[in-house]
Amino acid sequence: MKDYDVLLHVKGESEFTADRAAGMEMLHIAILTSTSAHAKISAINFDDARKIPGVAGIFTEKDIPGNNEIGNIIADEPLLAKNEVHHVGQPIAIIVAESRDLAKKAANSIRVVYEELPPIFTPREAHAKGSFIAPPRTFSLGDIEGAWKNCDCIVEGSVEIGGQEHLYLETQNAFATPKEGGGVKVYSSSQSPTAVQKTTAGILGLPMHQVEVDVLRLGGGFGGKEDQATPYAAMAALAAMILKKPVQIVLKREEDLCITGKRHPYSSDYKIGLKKDGTILAYDVKFFQNSGASADLSTAILERTLLHTTGSYFIPNVRSYAACCRTNLVPNTAYRGFGGPQAMLVLESAIWKAAEKLGINPVVLQKKNLSKKGDEFPYGMKNLSDNAIKCFEQADKKYDIADIMENANKWNESHPSKKKGVAVMPLCFGISFTSTFLNQASSLVHVYNDGSVGVTTGAIEMGQGVNAKIRTVISRVFSIDISRIKSESTNTTRNANTSPTAASSGADLNGNATRIACEDILSRLKAFVADQLETSPEQVEIKNEKVLCGGKETKWNWTSLVNDVYFSRIGLSSLAHYATPKIFFDKKIEKGDAFAYHTFGTAIAEVNLDCLRGTYEVESMKIIHDAGQSIHSVIDRGQIEGAVLQGIGWLTMEELVYGKTGKLLTKDLSSYKIPDIYFSPKEISIEFLESDEPNAGALNSKAIGEPPFMYGLAVYFALQNAIKAFRPKINTIFDTPLTPEKVLLSLFNDHQ
Ligand code: MTE
Ligand code: HPA
Ligand code: MOS
Repeated sequence: MKDYDVLLHVKGESEFTADRAAGMEMLHIAILTSTSAHAKISAINFDDARKIPGVAGIFTEKDIPGNNEIGNIIADEPLLAKNEVHHVGQPIAIIVAESRDLAKKAANSIRVVYEELPPIFTPREAHAKGSFIAPPRTFSLGDIEGAWKNCDCIVEGSVEIGGQEHLYLETQNAFATPKEGGGVKVYSSSQSPTAVQKTTAGILGLPMHQVEVDVLRLGGGFGGKEDQATPYAAMAALAAMILKKPVQIVLKREEDLCITGKRHPYSSDYKIGLKKDGTILAYDVKFFQNSGASADLSTAILERTLLHTTGSYFIPNVRSYAACCRTNLVPNTAYRGFGGPQAMLVLESAIWKAAEKLGINPVVLQKKNLSKKGDEFPYGMKNLSDNAIKCFEQADKKYDIADIMENANKWNESHPSKKKGVAVMPLCFGISFTSTFLNQASSLVHVYNDGSVGVTTGAIEMGQGVNAKIRTVISRVFSIDISRIKSESTNTTRNANTSPTAASSGADLNGNATRIACEDILSRLKAFVADQLETSPEQVEIKNEKVLCGGKETKWNWTSLVNDVYFSRIGLSSLAHYATPKIFFDKKIEKGDAFAYHTFGTAIAEVNLDCLRGTYEVESMKIIHDAGQSIHSVIDRGQIEGAVLQGIGWLTMEELVYGKTGKLLTKDLSSYKIPDIYFSPKEISIEFLESDEPNAGALNSKAIGEPPFMYGLAVYFALQNAIKAFRPKINTIFDTPLTPEKVLLSLFNDHQ
């Protein structure tokens, strides 16, 4: 496929935010951050820093002309700390200098005197002390208390879940230039230009129209730039406005690792009850989210956890309690899956333990309890499809799950110190922003009078291929070659009030808005032809750039038609808006049709564990995925492969370690390990669900970005199965990530 994104990337010519500042004279920012997790600031001495030649300015909360607030959902986070700090890495002041090194040197010369306060680091402790971001919430279905007496098997347990660093290749950065009339133009590496615009305007005390935000593309976001790109853009804008010069901020990798939020660690307790035949009757679960020091997106993430309590299964009696626990760690944030993966991990752990107690393979329980069309989720929505079952069946038919497991068992018999493990992960992930109002998008399409097309939407290109998908939509609706179409940067003066590119719905929302804009222009083109040929617009069609009437060729092709339409003084641009129909959620009763639809799939993972060393390999991932009618199957495969690897990393090698004072110790890539090409599954086989159902995504597609992340769970449970094959009586503990060290300790520790 001809695609200029790919061509630019391959040639190294694609520009990221910092590249766009190349050649411009810039001042640079370093941030003075807190070294204490919880303290009163009793004094700060800036004297030495101010004397350093080349320092252009030092700004604290006192220099903020507007509102010192970056909290998006809850106003509980200052841009620059005032009097108190609540986590290590919290920004206190910004130092602007002629170079980044100079700014850093000045920052290092500043002395802050702290009066230490007691910190809280774990969500269980925060919960016990009533330290919440917002009141806890409970979702319920059926009669949980009455259900236990009908259960033949009841299992209780707990699951401890680790966080995850986004590790986008492009670290957080931005630059800002002053504009006439006191405004600023901000170039940001953000998934959410409107949030940058609004928050920056608030900080500067300006109306939103005085802040223009432009985003060309990101070198990865993964949720880490949904909310947390904003403060850096605001800092650059603040300095640019005060100093009346262009100002840039680029976090070094280590700074980025230390001061930006991560996937939320969760602690949780569950109780699950089943009938003898394996039917799950009751599930009672408590989620304690480690939100960090301020809200960020934690409440929305918690909501998605609640919404995914029962994963791919139907459970008639459910109580799901969840709390955003305020601790003194960096505020945690969106990360691919947005709280869904944590919910699914707890449920799959409960199912695994129940299967162990019943003496059967977990896959028997998984298959038996899959949600079917019409089954109710705990939030009141009915499952609209049988695709959970269809994906499972297609996987079983193609790969023969029992056969894979039997082969592994046979292999294990003849390998005393190496064990294979196999596990299955069925997937059901809700598509739509959990905050209903965010499910809207706009698209501005210009057909230029030479027949070329330009498009801008609210979507941010961050490697997920949304721009190529949007161009594909245009190419299909107009029936023109894709090389005619160019995606412009995302800019708040072209597309206003945009939602973040998140919740996997970037292509759905912006693709649908683009379709509407194209249909609008197309109707004008058709009306023109119909008028000229004295026929009705329904007779007119554009096919492969030829203009047909009643199925016969006319004198026009795409370019000559566009040219004639222009000379007839008919508009060739359209700005369209799309809002996902029908969805709603009533928080008072915690019920509603929260999602436009669900994405489904089934993954089978096979691992090979070296029981003397604790090291492991993923031998294969076999996936059936429901992508609807994929707009771009190459992109969708790439999304699945990337998500799978990220999911595996989260549960295996990616370990965040904090010191006793709340400082991140795994603050570089020699101590924080992510999967590389050598750790990738030896085989990844991906097949799409065979289905011709209509879907709510653009051109009948389905969202792809986040759901496959959760296939990583299959690898985690395959590892647990391999451990169990070596030590059948082991008391399995669910405490992620399952690093090789932990595997080794569990094999030789005697917690049988
Ligand atoms: N893929 C790449 N290459 N880079 C990214 O930053 N972000 C993921 C996913 N895939 C991401 C990615 C996340 S968290 C989301 S929500 C979706 O892409 C967002 O894009 P979409 O809505 O267009 O699918
Ligand atoms: N996903 C990502 N971001 C969000 C969501 C969501 O469901 N809701 C609000 N912000
Ligand atoms: Mo994705 S976590 O919704 O940016």
